[in-house]
Amino acid sequence: MKNEINGKTKIIGVIGKNIENSLSPLIHNQIILKYSLNFCYLPFQIAETDLGKAIQGIKALNIRGVNITFPYKEKVVKFLDEVEESAQRIGAVNTIVHSKGLLTGYNTDVIGFKKSLQEDGKLAIKGEKAVILGAGGAARAVVYALLEEGIEGICIFNRTPEKAEKIKRTLSPFFPKSRISVFSLEEKRLKDKIKKAHLLVNTTSLGMPPRVDNTPLPDEKLFHPNLLVYDLIYHPARTLFLRQAERAGAKIINGLPMLVYQGIESFYLWTGLKPEGEEVLEMIRQIE
Ligand code: ATR
Repeated sequence: MKNEINGKTKIIGVIGKNIENSLSPLIHNQIILKYSLNFCYLPFQIAETDLGKAIQGIKALNIRGVNITFPYKEKVVKFLDEVEESAQRIGAVNTIVHSKGLLTGYNTDVIGFKKSLQEDGKLAIKGEKAVILGAGGAARAVVYALLEEGIEGICIFNRTPEKAEKIKRTLSPFFPKSRISVFSLEEKRLKDKIKKAHLLVNTTSLGMPPRVDNTPLPDEKLFHPNLLVYDLIYHPARTLFLRQAERAGAKIINGLPMLVYQGIESFYLWTGLKPEGEEVLEMIRQIE
């Protein structure tokens, strides 16, 4: 194992707004070390007003590619030369590849979410119902993944219901067999919809530092043992949302497996190398 930076080192990284707690640099640099690749993965903390300049900078600095994280997954699309078809439908990009002078956007969150369900929970969701909290870039990928797997119904609850409505409008034409309903996060029907659901996913940022006492579902009584409760947040490893779900007897998953699996897919797009997900997950869990 060697880890030396020289004149031939290729740069990859992550662009986001608050990435001090991101585990992506650790994950990618551990993979680079394990396979002795001449790559280096760096964090780029960028203000929203600099996003366009930063994306152009990928070309100027000959960076091989980047991940895009909260809250830029949708905002970044307009700065790219090409967007792969599913990322285009989703309207959100979490990976950029710089090749032959062009920047191409991909969405590896979809496969990351599916693989995390396969390994940690269950992906047999055909005919089941899901409640999704939030309607940002991450929610779009989760909804798309569930629709591709043939889920029967999805209820999206968001503080700004118009954003959930937009997801419904853009994605439902591609999946006419699945039913998408949208509501405000304040809506009383949340209780009833969670009661009937098999899967409950938090895609909002509520529970992230510094407000770790925050949760998108303050009423603990809404959780039940037949739910698989998924929080896309991985820091802290157990949000208040997940702790409450666990107390209610629900099975829980945090965002680490999805982060690892989406990261592996992005890594493959940049390097042509695809490490084993389980192995990387184990490596990161031991370090953490
Ligand atoms: P990401 O790309 O990670 O999905 P995003 O697109 O900024 O990030 O989405 C963040 C999600 O968290 C949105 O659903 C947002 O709700 P709005 O669409 O109403 O903005 C949700 N969110 C963030 N802060 C929130 C808060 N204080 N209360 C409720 N929802 C919140």
